Amino acid sequence: MPHRILIRDASVVMPEETARTSVLVEDGQILGVDAPPHTRADEVVEAAGLHLLPGVIDDQVHFRDPGLTHKEDLRTGSQACAAGGVTSFLEMPNTVPQTVTVGALADKLALAERRCVVNYGFYMGATTDNLDELCRAGHTPGVSAPGIKIFIGSSTGNMLVDDQECLEAIFAETTLPITAHCEDESTVRSNRERLNGPLSVHDHSRIRDHRAAVTATLRAIDLARRHRHRFHVLHVSTAEEVAILAQQGDPVTAEACPHHLFLDISDYDRLGTLAQMNPSLKTADDRAALWRGLKAGAVQILATDHAPHTLEEKRAPYPESPSGIPAVEVLLPLMLNEVNRGRCTLQDLAKWMSDGPARIWDIVGKGRIEPGYDADLVLVDMAEEREVRNERQLARCGWSPWHGTRLQGWPVRTFVGGRTVFASGRVATESLGRALVFDHERGGYWATAT
Ligand code: DOR
Repeated sequence: MPHRILIRDASVVMPEETARTSVLVEDGQILGVDAPPHTRADEVVEAAGLHLLPGVIDDQVHFRDPGLTHKEDLRTGSQACAAGGVTSFLEMPNTVPQTVTVGALADKLALAERRCVVNYGFYMGATTDNLDELCRAGHTPGVSAPGIKIFIGSSTGNMLVDDQECLEAIFAETTLPITAHCEDESTVRSNRERLNGPLSVHDHSRIRDHRAAVTATLRAIDLARRHRHRFHVLHVSTAEEVAILAQQGDPVTAEACPHHLFLDISDYDRLGTLAQMNPSLKTADDRAALWRGLKAGAVQILATDHAPHTLEEKRAPYPESPSGIPAVEVLLPLMLNEVNRGRCTLQDLAKWMSDGPARIWDIVGKGRIEPGYDADLVLVDMAEEREVRNERQLARCGWSPWHGTRLQGWPVRTFVGGRTVFASGRVATESLGRALVFDHERGGYWATAT
């Protein structure tokens, strides 16, 4: 017997419209989006007064599993996702061991099957000598990957690849889409050498400055264009990059992160090294340009770059303090709060946080509330108002740079494949997540423009 769930009388955010209706889910998939309110179902979820959004797909998280699980693991990270309305994540390769062989990728997928509350996928990481593995990763049955991650600038985990010959070979010979951390290493090094005396966290934005970000982004876009290779710019942080991206389109896409949209260099005074991440925070003007770029479509999606470190690690004096902040629990509330303030719409959020990432990475069956799509959904209460609190964070590190910030608009229930993974403040403990399926024949974001 099929299992049916009726989500009754929600304001449902669909690609073309938001409508008050009832959604019928059968065996984990959306069967109908205009079900009569008295349709028979095994489970009825009363959703009057709530909005139903497609679950968030976060294409940039660092869940530290295996190897650095004192910061986070796939269980705690995926539970934090569930609480934040994130129903699928793509995880970065700078774990221990690094995900730089097909074997390590297969191991991570096996680990995730046992630990993940939400759906998962893992990038293959580039090194200076794993081209064969990167080529095999796209063509090994059962070991699917969204793409290849290159650290064109070094960050946590010692994975720098900035040799031009290596980069040319990766763009020329691999077939998976490529994504990169763009901060130019030689610019960062020479900035660092020019600074004398003891450093403070304010220097982080002088060392990892605008020029570092812009130089590396231009370099990567040049590679993508010459090799006609799909390429996604991670965590854009400067107005200059937004202007460059506005001239791109196929095969280039880009994303912004909440820290670069909501924080800037003036926040170092208040947050100290808690506001240290790579790319670094920039100015209020950059922040404003990122918002404009997002709204104009120069930057297509949002992602968290969730990069947890313990408070003790973060409190080390700069530059010993590690870069990165946790964010999967706050991305959606931060953005819902902006919807309430009139800065963007729920339809924008569905595009930037669900449909957009699904299209960039060719994720099958995800990102929309439409018949035939998977029932990865989040019910949100646009009226609920409360503070972000460190003690409420499910991420193992237990802190947020937004601690004490009052937000209006919060997820109240999250479904993965029709199963509830978060409701009434409680999160599932079963491994209900599934491996995401990537169909790269689809051709990515620009090939699927609607
Ligand atoms: O701030 C960052 N932290 N940026 C990155 O690119 C990596 C991340 C981490 O893994 O800690």
